[in-house]
Amino acid sequence: MKFYKIRVIIHSNVIKKLIKGGMTMYFRKILEEIKAYVPGKSIEEIQREFNINKIAKLASNENPYGCSQGVLQCLNDVKNIEEYPDNNCTKLREMLAQKHNIKETQLIFGDGSVEILSMISQVFIGPDDEVITCTPSFSSYFTQAKLMGGKVIGIPLSNDVFDLKGIINKITDRTKLIYIGNPNNPTGTIITVDEQLDFLKSVPKNIAVVLDEAYYEYVTDKQYPNSISFLNEFENIIILRTFSKAYGLAGFRVGYGIASEEMVVELNKVRNPFNVSTLAQNAACKALMDKEFIEMVVKNNTQVLNYMYEQLDRLDISYISSQTNFIMIDCRRNGMKVSQELLERGFIVRPGFPLMDDYIRVSIGTLEQMKEFIVVLDRLINEGEKQ
Ligand SMILES: Cc1ncc(COP(=O)(O)O)c(C=O)c1O
Repeated sequence: MKFYKIRVIIHSNVIKKLIKGGMTMYFRKILEEIKAYVPGKSIEEIQREFNINKIAKLASNENPYGCSQGVLQCLNDVKNIEEYPDNNCTKLREMLAQKHNIKETQLIFGDGSVEILSMISQVFIGPDDEVITCTPSFSSYFTQAKLMGGKVIGIPLSNDVFDLKGIINKITDRTKLIYIGNPNNPTGTIITVDEQLDFLKSVPKNIAVVLDEAYYEYVTDKQYPNSISFLNEFENIIILRTFSKAYGLAGFRVGYGIASEEMVVELNKVRNPFNVSTLAQNAACKALMDKEFIEMVVKNNTQVLNYMYEQLDRLDISYISSQTNFIMIDCRRNGMKVSQELLERGFIVRPGFPLMDDYIRVSIGTLEQMKEFIVVLDRLINEGEKQ
């Protein structure tokens, strides 16, 4: 038997790790800086851990009203599952192009909008390129850019809102990409049409600007921009939308981006083939047909959000006014601890955002869920303080 001597050249951008069986593997060094995404605990996990039956999952901004009946019906006549999906998402593309009055070639589809975030980093970011966003904001902006070797600059929010002037001040000739969450997750705040216009005018045209509008449908503020109308003037923007939130299709994973045709050509080069499943494409088409469902969801969300404002004001608990289906609440003590205490009482919420240690992010559930939540929160924050 012949043995070959393999010489491994160890670069500074790798780390050596011993894995099972004494083998040595070389992993990318950047992975040391990246943590795996940790989703909120599932209802089943909490049921098992705390032996409680009734649990409200208010951690992932999911839709408490489910999804359109049309979507559920289309699941009964699923066909051609043995075949790969339509790589072009033809029907969905046609429907969205018509809805938004754009060209079909201006659309890119993803396995959730988070996949498009990953495509965007692959297209724009190389080692040592700079990416600017605010913090706290959606964690994927940071991970995706870092994975490509980029340097992410996270500017603190200004009064809970994206600090656009702060972003402009940090632009250098290495800046390739800017992420704007509008509305921002986790604060639920927006930037207005005038602010967005002024900002885009100040950003050099060769820097791509991602306008992440995952919560677009929920916004009621009249000052919220219609970003699609900006596309003619600003060819450097990419607008992201998703079917995961107001449409209630988080389990299907469909999101889309709207950008210039040239930008879409490049994004398509890094897109995984057949990345949106047949079921997900069908479901999204059906969801688009049901305008009444979305109207019902948004109306209920606004009502329950107003109920939350009234109750939190009554209880003297501070919060950040939100344009989304979630709200940031100030617990006046460590949010991690409060969230653990809520967990034991059957409410799953999200703590642990950078620079906001005392806050928890609470998704807006049904009125019944939020009534129960408020009673428990009052006990944990106000009554707890009196003891
Ligand atoms: C601001 C923001 N952008 C993007 C996403 C990704 O959504 P999805 O991948 O489900 O489309 C989320 C999900 O929570 C989000 O909050």
